[in-house]
Amino acid sequence: MRKQLTIGLFGFGCVGTGLYQVLNQSNLLDAKIKRIIVKNKAKKRIIAAEHFGYEASEILNDSEINVVVELINDSDEALIIVREALAKGKHVVSANKKLIAEHLDELIDLAKQNKVSFLYEASVAGSIPILRNLEEYYNNDTLSSVQGIVNGTTNYILTQSNYGVSYADALQKAQELGFAEANPTLDVDGFDSKFKLVLLIKHAFGLSILPENVFNYGIRQIKNQDVKYASEKDYRIKLFARAEKIGDKIIGFVAPHFIKKEHVAYQVDNEFNAVIVEASFSDRQLFLGKGAGSFPTASAVLSDISALQFDYQYEYRKSDKESNTEFTEDFYLKIYLASSDVDALKTIPFAQIDEIFQSKGYNYQTGYVKFSDLSKNNFNDLEKLFFAVLPEPFLNENEIVNSKQIKEDLINEIV
Ligand code: HSE
Repeated sequence: MRKQLTIGLFGFGCVGTGLYQVLNQSNLLDAKIKRIIVKNKAKKRIIAAEHFGYEASEILNDSEINVVVELINDSDEALIIVREALAKGKHVVSANKKLIAEHLDELIDLAKQNKVSFLYEASVAGSIPILRNLEEYYNNDTLSSVQGIVNGTTNYILTQSNYGVSYADALQKAQELGFAEANPTLDVDGFDSKFKLVLLIKHAFGLSILPENVFNYGIRQIKNQDVKYASEKDYRIKLFARAEKIGDKIIGFVAPHFIKKEHVAYQVDNEFNAVIVEASFSDRQLFLGKGAGSFPTASAVLSDISALQFDYQYEYRKSDKESNTEFTEDFYLKIYLASSDVDALKTIPFAQIDEIFQSKGYNYQTGYVKFSDLSKNNFNDLEKLFFAVLPEPFLNENEIVNSKQIKEDLINEIV
């Protein structure tokens, strides 16, 4: 039976306003927003002031409100609201990836103890229904990887740079369009993608990992020469979040990637996101959709609210099954490392060098590096260096040794 939902909404910014509008247009739902809590009394809004309140208790202490939708920017304040709402037996829908990634296990336990649902589809890749698919559809298949573009702001900036728009102008436009976080460093340095990746890893592989243990590198250090290198090779630069199974371990990180023309993400532009799922029986599948913006994100919030009518909750079945799964940084990947200063390239030890280029003011080398040697560095703050992952498979220690041997044998043959 459908449940009647009485909603208390926190936040009336880009997504909150969108939710109000899409909820009004959707007559399929037996749901009404009873109260909206906002911070700023003076701000002009699209609906009358009588709908708004300014104290969280107006929602949290209202026993008629059975659903709290949390859409505020401040993740510390949001945590207090979400904890209290769950503890008071209210279902919670949130889009706050930072808050959820940092406190997921605690919030899952709290929801269980209080027999309520905690849903957050809108927190990962905006309108793309990826979490529920990973939970339900891929429950019986063996997933091997989940990866893709999960940040609209950086994809917008990278796309606009192809049309000659400067980084600063593109970022400003992304802010105006409501794509960027209140603190856009979270977007451009890859933190936002990392929070989303943490949630993808939980729902794809059942593994709980804290964001502080996942490497993230964004797009701030990309120079013109790097873009030129990409276009000469027919690559595009995309910020990728990647989680993969290697043997019985999981790897995960966020970094710029060179994407080949044939890759399904090559044409994914502007605020569109793309999540690519690989599983043993279904093979490769692509989820494509708008990853940011008012209505696309609100549509995912609406879908969670709608699921609450039928008491839907995530079951985290993979967490029970695969609780022994470990996270690892023990693998090799092929990168392009560039710098204006040739000595700066020595910061990262290469296990195998494939190409070296040196000139005044621009130097690079390509080859395999051990991931744990990369992740020791805070690349977001290393202004002299830029790296991007090249489209080559990851290798393990043995494969690196073998590949080096094959190269040496070839050289010896030629000599
Ligand atoms: N700042 C985020 C993005 C918003 O650009 O993708 C949606 O999560």
